[in-house]
Amino acid sequence: MRIFLFPLLLLTCLVSVAQQPGPYHYSVRKYMEAKRFAVSSAHPLASEAGARIMREGGNAVDAAIAVQLALAVVYPAAGNLGGGGFLVARLADGRNISIDYREKAPARAYRDMYLDSAGNPVVRRSLDGHLAAGVPGTVAGLVASQKYGRLPLSRLAAPAIELAEKGFVITEREADGLNRLREAFIQLNTRPVAFVKDAPWKAGDTLVQRDLAGTLRRIARKGMKGFYAGETAKLVAAEMKRGGGIITEKDMAAYKAASRKPVEFDFRGHTVISMPLPSSGGIGLQQMLGMMDATHPEQFAFHSPEAVQRMIEAERRAYADRAEFLGDPDFVKVPVAQLTGNAYLRQRMADFTPGKPTPSKDIKAGGPFESMETTHLSVVDAEGNAVAVTTTLNGGYGSKVVVGGAGFLLNNEMDDFSVKPGAPNMYGLLGTEANAIAPGKRMLSSMTPTIVLKNGKPYLVTGTPGGSTIITSMFQTIVNDIVYGLDAKTNVNAPKFHHQWWPEDVMVEREFPEATRAALEKMGYKLKTGGPWSRTELIRIENGKIEAVGDWRGDDSVAGE
Ligand code: DON
Repeated sequence: MRIFLFPLLLLTCLVSVAQQPGPYHYSVRKYMEAKRFAVSSAHPLASEAGARIMREGGNAVDAAIAVQLALAVVYPAAGNLGGGGFLVARLADGRNISIDYREKAPARAYRDMYLDSAGNPVVRRSLDGHLAAGVPGTVAGLVASQKYGRLPLSRLAAPAIELAEKGFVITEREADGLNRLREAFIQLNTRPVAFVKDAPWKAGDTLVQRDLAGTLRRIARKGMKGFYAGETAKLVAAEMKRGGGIITEKDMAAYKAASRKPVEFDFRGHTVISMPLPSSGGIGLQQMLGMMDATHPEQFAFHSPEAVQRMIEAERRAYADRAEFLGDPDFVKVPVAQLTGNAYLRQRMADFTPGKPTPSKDIKAGGPFESMETTHLSVVDAEGNAVAVTTTLNGGYGSKVVVGGAGFLLNNEMDDFSVKPGAPNMYGLLGTEANAIAPGKRMLSSMTPTIVLKNGKPYLVTGTPGGSTIITSMFQTIVNDIVYGLDAKTNVNAPKFHHQWWPEDVMVEREFPEATRAALEKMGYKLKTGGPWSRTELIRIENGKIEAVGDWRGDDSVAGE
């Protein structure tokens, strides 16, 4: 995985001289204790946008909308208007909701569209350029979320519009990202883009995005119609024509977000609420926690070889099921109840052997991967609402195509379909018919925005990017807290391990304990070091204290009061 190639992320965070906070002077804050509300997101300016909205009387849903709009400006690698996402919320009145705004395959998409005449996947066709994009869902998701908020879009979009129009100072990490993709931006675009300038970007430069500000204004004024019809939809269709893509104005007009019943289950006296299909996240989480529990890991210490082995074997089995069964529930019948039943989960671990790996071939799905970017945000307010949103363009900066005149990047989410049974996608994930391409279908996701309740009240509000590693990171975040009692900061910053059935190797982050690594190798596991790969945003609420943590692995930052 290209996450192995990630440059070592630095812990240094100060972006500019702290004077008046604003787009030119801001700093990263990794941890805070709040009394009323809190936000954790991938960028300080986005977290601040959410805090501002709550100060102005908005609730957590309003804030989550404002944070997403701001991320589309200040975190273009993953924040987006041209991608898709999922929202999971626990509302103050006790309702649990989820909104699916995953991208859809355009009407002209077809099953073998990424294969050559010999039936082999064409390298990077589902990843770079116009053909890689699904019909964007984010704006529909934000509009659908508004039902649970109270402020108008014009107010929620205001911070994002200011940031796009006046610009903001970029960090070293952002400058590196833009410089790395300079050639791709030039080659794949049909019009000049704000992300390319003559000299290389450096920390402290200002990024202004006027076309994006125009699109945000249309959304602020007209909601759905400001994006899925009229000028913006026309600009998307024109971009597709120039660049050889297939999204039409009709595709845009047809896009709708879906309300779905969240995955909900009990884990050791807590209620876990997470994203259902077309995300594999909630189901995967339920499977991993259930399978692991059948092996009683609590008898072993945190990160001991015995505990980690039990979790790896649960991860392996859950990913085998994912590859075989999971896809868009509007298109395929998925045996969700069977896959998550307690009896099934216990039986699934029947061939688990302590001290020995179960070969993946006996259970019955790598390469050069690119930088991956998705982003998660967690928000809680003073009224008792808790919101977890994960949103993405898929790869860093998605398809790298900016819609000419509209200033937003399009996703490369089509790669999350199984382009051919047995052919791994960017994350090395395999799939079958259940996740084959069809017009109007949503590609399977791993994004796992999750809320855990304790005594019926929000306790953990969390999620992370990381492609296929998302589910295993969420699995570990929950286990680290509920089984091992780690405090919020230690939990987020603890090194992760990951197994996804195929490839057979276990991935571990650099900081993974050496002794455990050696013991697992002795058992017969092959370990590969990589990462860092997650950027977990965690809010933890206990006894009236709100703790917000931003992951050390990025510019992630918290805000609140
Ligand atoms: O939906 C999915 O599972 C992927 N498109 C998510 C991509 C991702 O997390 C990249 N981030 N690091």
